[in-house]
Amino acid sequence: MLRFLTAGESHGPALTVILEGLPAGLPVDRAAIDADLRRRQGGYGRGGRMRIESDAVEVLAGVRHGRTLGSPVALLVRNRDHDNWRDVMSPDPQPPEARDRRALRNPRPGHADLAGAMKFLTDDLRNVVERASARETTARVAAGALCRGLLAEAGVEVRSHVVRIGRAALPASRAVAFTELAGVESSPVRCADAETAAAMIAEIDAARKAGDSVGGVFEAAARGTPPGLGSFSQWDRRLDGRLAQAVMSIPAVKAVALGAGFEAGEAPGSAFHDEILFEDGRGLHRGSNRAGGVEGGVSNGEEIRVRGVVKPIPTLLLPLRSVDIATKEPGAASIERSDTCVVPAAAVVAEAMLCLVLADALLEKFGGDSLGELKDHLDAGRGRLREFLSRRP
Ligand SMILES: Cc1cc2nc3c(=O)[nH]c(=O)nc-3n(C[C@H](O)[C@H](O)[C@H](O)COP(=O)(O)O)c2cc1C
Repeated sequence: MLRFLTAGESHGPALTVILEGLPAGLPVDRAAIDADLRRRQGGYGRGGRMRIESDAVEVLAGVRHGRTLGSPVALLVRNRDHDNWRDVMSPDPQPPEARDRRALRNPRPGHADLAGAMKFLTDDLRNVVERASARETTARVAAGALCRGLLAEAGVEVRSHVVRIGRAALPASRAVAFTELAGVESSPVRCADAETAAAMIAEIDAARKAGDSVGGVFEAAARGTPPGLGSFSQWDRRLDGRLAQAVMSIPAVKAVALGAGFEAGEAPGSAFHDEILFEDGRGLHRGSNRAGGVEGGVSNGEEIRVRGVVKPIPTLLLPLRSVDIATKEPGAASIERSDTCVVPAAAVVAEAMLCLVLADALLEKFGGDSLGELKDHLDAGRGRLREFLSRRP
């Protein structure tokens, strides 16, 4: 229903995204998109590049007088740093000095450098790095912010928090309620617990001092998701599979879990599954939410909770061993201006991916060319479900 494509290089003129499938009449608030872009740029542990950029969205198409037209929406975010890279990133042929000035020859273990060089048979790793860079996620966050707006119209709210950075983690017993998640916006590491946040900051400081990097775990959450999104009928319609792909596609994410998914292999079924309860006045509800809001590939109305494990980023100020891709001489891996820890930023990107997947699944079930039509369908759907759940023989 909803599809999007991003384009743009890290030091090119801009990142851009085309999002198609939003209904007409959806309010578009540029300040809200910019707020999400700023959240992606923030977080303790980011590097010098984020001090140069001050992301702001430009709307090129699909919006008129503050509302979507139902046509493709095109958004653009300029790279301020491009001013320093005009000749290096020029689309036009340039003299060799410009081509070679920012050349990267020694691939970084863990980055796309070597895999991309072998794919495109290039010994100028700049050709790989520019698109493989997670700067691309700026465009996803801009598109995700539009979907966040759509979800808000349906009463769905999406937030995130950080669970672990290096050895500093929220205690397993510390459940973080959705109502606490607004508070993490004031934490530099997006952590709901002040003591753990201080330990996380210490992990990042230690990594930075050692010329190293550090990873962690985030959780993105959605409250108010209508039951019935996704399907078990085909593998590619399953909501859990779609969420996993979306979150795994974030650069540096190496594992994804729904709910308590990482624990599912150890616990017995009796301790793992969420019992189904009924109370007059409250209706059907669950005693817990270890499933993370999806059963059988379908949303069950509980909060959606999806976690991602972020590896320590590959660029190290004390680099690992590598090899010059042209001469094959051993040497240290290349260094680009880099972050130390991106877990808080990755959490914001995960929110955007969650918004994109849920908006798509919402439109699939309820549809409509205009926002009014979608809302009518949502109201009718809610009414039918209420009636179904209160029915007794
Ligand atoms: C928001 C964000 C910022 C990132 N910044 C950096 C960075 O500054 N330096 C770096 O080496 N990797 C950074 N990464 C990770 C790399 O983009 C990623 O490791 C690389 O593209 C290879 O992809 P893979 O780790 O998924 O295999 C960042 C990731 C995210 C999500």
